[in-house]
Amino acid sequence: MKSVVIHQAGGPEVLQIEERPIPVATATQTVMHIRAFAVHRYEVLTREGGSPSVKFPRVIGIEAVGEVAEPATNSSLKKGQRVVTINGGFGREFDGSEQEYALVPDDQLHAVEFDGSWAQMAAYPETFYTAFGSIKYTNLKPGQSLLVRGGTTGVGMAAILLAKVLGLTVTATSRRPERLAELTALGADEAVLDDQGTLATTVQYDGIVDMVGAPALEDTLGHLKAGGTYTLVGLLAGKWLWNQFDPFENLYGRRYATIFDGTVYDSWMQEMFQLINQHHLEIPIAKVFPLDEIQAAQTYVMQHDRPMGQVIVTTD
Ligand SMILES: NC(=O)c1ccc[n+]([C@@H]2O[C@H](COP(=O)([O-])OP(=O)(O)OC[C@H]3O[C@@H](n4cnc5c(N)ncnc54)[C@H](OP(=O)(O)O)[C@@H]3O)[C@@H](O)[C@H]2O)c1
Repeated sequence: MKSVVIHQAGGPEVLQIEERPIPVATATQTVMHIRAFAVHRYEVLTREGGSPSVKFPRVIGIEAVGEVAEPATNSSLKKGQRVVTINGGFGREFDGSEQEYALVPDDQLHAVEFDGSWAQMAAYPETFYTAFGSIKYTNLKPGQSLLVRGGTTGVGMAAILLAKVLGLTVTATSRRPERLAELTALGADEAVLDDQGTLATTVQYDGIVDMVGAPALEDTLGHLKAGGTYTLVGLLAGKWLWNQFDPFENLYGRRYATIFDGTVYDSWMQEMFQLINQHHLEIPIAKVFPLDEIQAAQTYVMQHDRPMGQVIVTTD
């Protein structure tokens, strides 16, 4: 089988395809035939050596969609069943998605119903699950308002779609004026410009999911109603620390701030795919690459002028 093995951190050129034997199932690990996966910005960071817990050589890629090729001896999964896997060390502590087959702990495989193509299916697991989990963390009820800061990100677009079918009123942001109409076309009730870290509105919301993080935190929390919930998902702005943080000023009266930790519950995954299937939820796919072009796929995901949407790799 083809495997993209990184032997040391570096640029796209360290993503090299090698021939490896197809793994063999164990009592607790199933062999997954990987059909497609989404490529994310943080995998570029991992490739560059920015994830110290990832030791090379490693096949990276923290999510995949595909079929059961050989179930674990004690598995309830059946050969040929459609499955997804995300997180739990996949592509970090053990080899992940950038290959044709992977050995995955059985309890990290989720059998889900989905009738579309593998490329379409690959747009969902990590991105939609992250959006779904972060909305759940806000504890909002139908009719309440949600701000999605970083609305044009994959997670942001998924959050808009999921929040709407959960009955929330949704406002989403972009730094680019020309993208605001795309956000309302996608389903946001309102789109607001993020003007160099300051939102062009004075409105406060019942809950916020935030993909931008540290440098805009004071502005973001200023848009949270008293008693509201803030969930941090990502640090797109690339800064981990924020020197001006004043907890009295910035957290005063807000009920709860949390970081979505990515824990994967099968019940949430099933609930999410039910919503996806029932409401035909789809975010744009920016481009699909074959596995042989993994270097180009990782370069493309970082490109500033690329279209909004997911970057997908298929193994066919
Ligand atoms: N995708 C996942 O499965 C996942 C899972 C867990 C966590 N996360 C985290 O969630 C965040 C979003 O990830 P993603 O994969 O969904 O992103 P993405 O689709 O690659 O997002 C690209 C968009 O991010 C916005 N952006 C880039 N730099 C920015 C900055 N400095 N400030 C504000 N906006 C910026 C730009 O939108 P505009 O130019 O329109 O503003 C850009 O078009 C990341 O921090 C990621 O680590 C993602």
